[in-house]
Amino acid sequence: MMSESRVLISPLQDILSHSRFILTLRSDTGNYHGLILFRLSADSTSNPQLYVMEATCPHLGAEMSHADIEEYEDSVVAVCPWHRYDFDLKTGKSETGLSTCTYAVQVKSDSQSGEEQVWMAAPEDGKNWRVVELRPVSEGPFFAVRIEFADPPPSPIKLTSASNVIATPFALEATEPVVPEKDPPKTFMEWAALILNTPNPTLKVERTRYAVHAFRTGIITSIGHKVSDPPRPPPQPPRETYMNIVEPGKIQSGKRKNRAVMLHALANIEQWAIDLAWDIMVRFGPMHKDLPPAFFSDFAKMALDESKHFSLLRARLASLSTPYGSLPVHASLWDSATLTSKSLLSRLAIIHLVHEARGLDVNPKTMEKFRKAGDKESVDVLEIIHSDEVTHVTTGHRWFLWMCEQQQKKMRGEGGEGGLVDVDPVKAFRDEVRRCWRGDIKGPFNIEDREKAGLSPEFYENLRGEMPYPEVDGRLAQNPSVKGGDEKMDRVVDALAAVRVDYGE
Ligand code: FES
Repeated sequence: MMSESRVLISPLQDILSHSRFILTLRSDTGNYHGLILFRLSADSTSNPQLYVMEATCPHLGAEMSHADIEEYEDSVVAVCPWHRYDFDLKTGKSETGLSTCTYAVQVKSDSQSGEEQVWMAAPEDGKNWRVVELRPVSEGPFFAVRIEFADPPPSPIKLTSASNVIATPFALEATEPVVPEKDPPKTFMEWAALILNTPNPTLKVERTRYAVHAFRTGIITSIGHKVSDPPRPPPQPPRETYMNIVEPGKIQSGKRKNRAVMLHALANIEQWAIDLAWDIMVRFGPMHKDLPPAFFSDFAKMALDESKHFSLLRARLASLSTPYGSLPVHASLWDSATLTSKSLLSRLAIIHLVHEARGLDVNPKTMEKFRKAGDKESVDVLEIIHSDEVTHVTTGHRWFLWMCEQQQKKMRGEGGEGGLVDVDPVKAFRDEVRRCWRGDIKGPFNIEDREKAGLSPEFYENLRGEMPYPEVDGRLAQNPSVKGGDEKMDRVVDALAAVRVDYGE
């Protein structure tokens, strides 16, 4: 019997493409649950055999998306890929004595439309749950999915294989093995540091895919952020020497940018975005040893998404005879990473809830430009990127709220202020932006997609960053909209507008 409180997951039809899905729920008060939906029966419509369980193993936190499913006489169990503990899909119990949460699933016909719909029992630690992510899990072996990116859903775009893209003066081809022959990384954090130090864009993508797959399937069984001497991220990830890195103001801007220039700028952002996903794990994991495994699963998924985005854009660039690396790029996104390198709260606020949320605002306009140019293939790519980016802002929101909760617990424990201490996430976000951002949080806003990601207008409306402008030759560059003819100061001003330029604003 399902309890009265339940959550609509999706129409049954929408989950027949795969047999397992990553499912994320959010309550109206900002609680999150990361879950896995399993569909076990090939007889998908009459008896789909659906189960939902928590996405992380209660033993040491492995992701259960790639758990083996084994059937016994009267039960079905999910076997954790790390240490092979098994959990009954109905009861969540394991013979080891541990147990995980499972949720009853039902298929019901909608009384009005007659559509078959999948419902699940609602978690008890919140109300008004909604699905914020439902994405299929790739089940093939790593080397079978390396080109097609079956996770998330197979794209309508045929990716060009790496070997077809390489016939250019730009050395996109990986020159080293994906897994180094000497001292290969043993933990997930060692992989993070290696990938951040990998300048070759193709190798960065291949290593990301390998490391995430290895993490999910139990080839790597340690995150490695709690060790006494964790790997350190580089101050700024290196780039290939052939990349022409220039000041942001030197990048072609304005309304008349051609499609290749825009795609190249976006591919550059995706390369930095891969690095940002790895950097947040390896930089802040050791600083916050209480970060749960779900944090690493979420940002691993993000790193994989960004590498998929880069590959899709690179394939589009190749089709426009503009290989990645043939145009100048800038590194201004890393300026925000450097600025927020001391505080996880600041990093989540500025990179994921300001920069990435801004992407949600401007992506539809960018897609429209490509649509008007008749470039359907690029529109398809940008649509995939956009829907993934909503989930990335969701991830930023989830862990920002988690950090606020931790701060609240700490203050209650240490300050003796009892229940009076309340770390309000909206106030905390606005404080971070005032401290670490310059100028207005600019609209117009994509209110609908921001809301899907958890960002209600109270977070970002009428908000202005108050960070002072840097000193250049003893003067403050105080007004970003006015250039003073001073070359050094103008570069500072240009850097502030760089991200807007990349999106074609
Ligand atoms: S059995 Fe799952 S992490 Fe150990």
